[in-house]
Amino acid sequence: MHPSREPVDLLIGPAAQVATPRAAERPPAGPQQGRLEVIPGGAVAVRDGRIVAVGPYADLARRYDPAEVLDASGCTVVPGFVDPHTHLCFAGWRAEEFERRLAGASYQEILAAGGGILDTVRRTREASEVELAAALRRRLLEVLRLGTTTVEVKSGYGLTTADELKMLRAIRRAADPADDLDGTWPLGAGTRGPGNGPRLRKNRPGATGSGGPGSGSDVDAGDGAGGARLAGGGTAGGGAAAGAGGAAATWAAAGTAHARPTAGTAPPRAAAGAAARAAVPAAGPVAAGPAADRAGGHGDLGSGLVLPEVVATFLGAHAVPPEYRGRPDEYVDRIVEEMLPAVAREGLAEYADVFCEQGVFDLEQTRRIVEAARRLGFRIRLHVDELTPLGGAGLAAQVGAVSADHLLHVRDEDIPRLREAGTVATLLPGTAFFLREPHAPARKLIEAGVPVALATDYNPGSHPAGSMPLVMAIACVGMGMTPAEALVASTLGGAWAVERAQRLGSLEPGKQADLVVIDAPSYQHLAYRLGTVPVVAVVKGGRVVEV
Ligand code: NIG
Ligand code: FE
Repeated sequence: MHPSREPVDLLIGPAAQVATPRAAERPPAGPQQGRLEVIPGGAVAVRDGRIVAVGPYADLARRYDPAEVLDASGCTVVPGFVDPHTHLCFAGWRAEEFERRLAGASYQEILAAGGGILDTVRRTREASEVELAAALRRRLLEVLRLGTTTVEVKSGYGLTTADELKMLRAIRRAADPADDLDGTWPLGAGTRGPGNGPRLRKNRPGATGSGGPGSGSDVDAGDGAGGARLAGGGTAGGGAAAGAGGAAATWAAAGTAHARPTAGTAPPRAAAGAAARAAVPAAGPVAAGPAADRAGGHGDLGSGLVLPEVVATFLGAHAVPPEYRGRPDEYVDRIVEEMLPAVAREGLAEYADVFCEQGVFDLEQTRRIVEAARRLGFRIRLHVDELTPLGGAGLAAQVGAVSADHLLHVRDEDIPRLREAGTVATLLPGTAFFLREPHAPARKLIEAGVPVALATDYNPGSHPAGSMPLVMAIACVGMGMTPAEALVASTLGGAWAVERAQRLGSLEPGKQADLVVIDAPSYQHLAYRLGTVPVVAVVKGGRVVEV
């Protein structure tokens, strides 16, 4: 060790390339939408879960003395993906509905006949809070392994006060790494939770796994087998121990500091009341809490559970439930008078959302819900102009929504309104593709200076997939975005869409160390490889999860 080098916890590099947007006062829009800083042979230095420096590996290796090195030879390092629109908390899949749609039935017809979202509502009502939380936690780990380090999750499959609260409590619990979900998720299970572990069984006595209790497997191939790249006692030497073809990111402990823990990322934002939250800058830094203290060392899948940060949204206005069929205004009354206040009282959601759509909630009903939500301190995001040109984007701009989502049928006159309101256009091209609908006019939006974010919409009906790289590919091929625009929209754009851009979304000193290492020589591969680019490691708040 060089005496004059500054100690850091982690050095990620040398990478073939580090690619990141640069944050500014405003969300990236217009020409900034496609602006990336690309550092060939780059590296990222991390201390206490935050980025200390980003630059050429040779410079950083001279300046910093890392306790641990994540060798990213041959790989590209990008910010962790921020997915600002999902319905990740649900019970049951809808594969039969997929077949019905392929045979010609429309999404709206199926919903009008009591299927679609209402099918998931039935099954979600039947599920317990802990069942929902366990299923959600598995999906959180699924998307983490795809590179998503922050994810918005909506309620909206309960549609009664009790069931919406159940969903939101499940969301809060699933996102808390210290919650063992009533014993269904033993803390020792790490990222290999029940039902999520490898299914390989070795029928040989003495073959013990490291998956911990409840991993559902005798042998956990995740640690020490199956291509793990855990190495100890190495040096910070560049490129040492790179995997075959230099492709694998090697997780090496430099010198004697292997056991030195790094403060983990902050736990999901404490659920403060909505009113209290309104007083706090939404994108402000989050202090590390007790959950971080309990966390294990980097990449220690056996003892530390690393989860994406979760942003909770109340979507009681997702559909008119069967009990209120034909009486949507009465259901809106229920949302306004009972549900929103109950959610606010428990501080269970930061945002309120409405599916503003023909045959679901019209503009007036949406406005009523939004106004009531705002009075209670909720921030607003809206599903608008997804299936019909109702003018929801104009309403979103008028009410100062943080994000207007979908926009397949956004009216031309509403585009400048979005820009003036500073509303982020969150586009979900995977949904358009999966529903065989025309894409949102991304180019028009970008040319008009509206900031664009991308999201998966992960849900069992209109997009049952959580891969941001797949969404980037569809954004490029289907909507004419460039790979750079798609990456900016999936990182910093998403961070703006959930009001966390001061802390997340780019690789810059002071920001939280959330990043993805992909086995590819350049960032273009994210979009180019059609959702299949291998993620070899994900770093969340400075903690490494090897994939
Ligand atoms: O964003 N549009 C409404 N909600 C989801 C679909 C949810 C579902 O089909 O279960 C969407 O597409
Ligand atoms: Fe949605």
